[in-house]
Amino acid sequence: MTDTGPTIKAMVFDAYGTLFDVHSVIALCNELFPEQGPALSHMWRAKQLEYTWLLSLMGRYEDFWHITEKALRFACRALKLPYDEAQQAQLLEAYLHLEPYPEVQQALTGLTGYPLAILSNGSPAMLEPLVSNAGLQGTFAHVISVDELKIYKPSPQVYRLAVDKLGLEAQAIGFVSSNSFDIIGATAFGFRTFWVNRAASPLDELGVVPTTTIGKLTDLVEVLNR
Ligand code: LAC
Repeated sequence: MTDTGPTIKAMVFDAYGTLFDVHSVIALCNELFPEQGPALSHMWRAKQLEYTWLLSLMGRYEDFWHITEKALRFACRALKLPYDEAQQAQLLEAYLHLEPYPEVQQALTGLTGYPLAILSNGSPAMLEPLVSNAGLQGTFAHVISVDELKIYKPSPQVYRLAVDKLGLEAQAIGFVSSNSFDIIGATAFGFRTFWVNRAASPLDELGVVPTTTIGKLTDLVEVLNR
């Protein structure tokens, strides 16, 4: 699709799955539950997201840390993995040390001309250590959490929060996510969107197409200069 909108004035990033690899917990999952790492990590993430959607539809809210903990408990039960409190604490702690994708530093360095922000489901108490443990403190002008709204993505209210915090119209904001539900929600809201489709997955059949699709974060600099 040709992008003919106004000049992009700020870049806003999703956190989990876009900047930080949620499946970097697989190594620890494998240590605790040999050979079950990928299955545990994938079910954990799937349930975590499902719980955000279910609670939001029910008009309820629990912060992302508690949802992450409950999703982990469910995944262990579903996979019949016995676990104790210490293992659960160790796995949750790993969520504060998720590895950034290898190209993150280079991609963000290439975008220093733009104010950068994070807009995430994560609670402030999760995002602050996540960003600093990855050595990215000072990189983002805003780290925005849904927690102040108490509703999750892809509610339009969440994307509106970035418009309000940045003081820019939606079309002047470039939003970057690897999560297809998030990029679809952000596109429907009115952001200019960049879907980082690392796995070359098909787009969900919801009739909403991201402005631009790229394979990795470092492609952003090139497409923004086009
Ligand atoms: C986030 C979820 C979508 O960071 O992973 O908001």
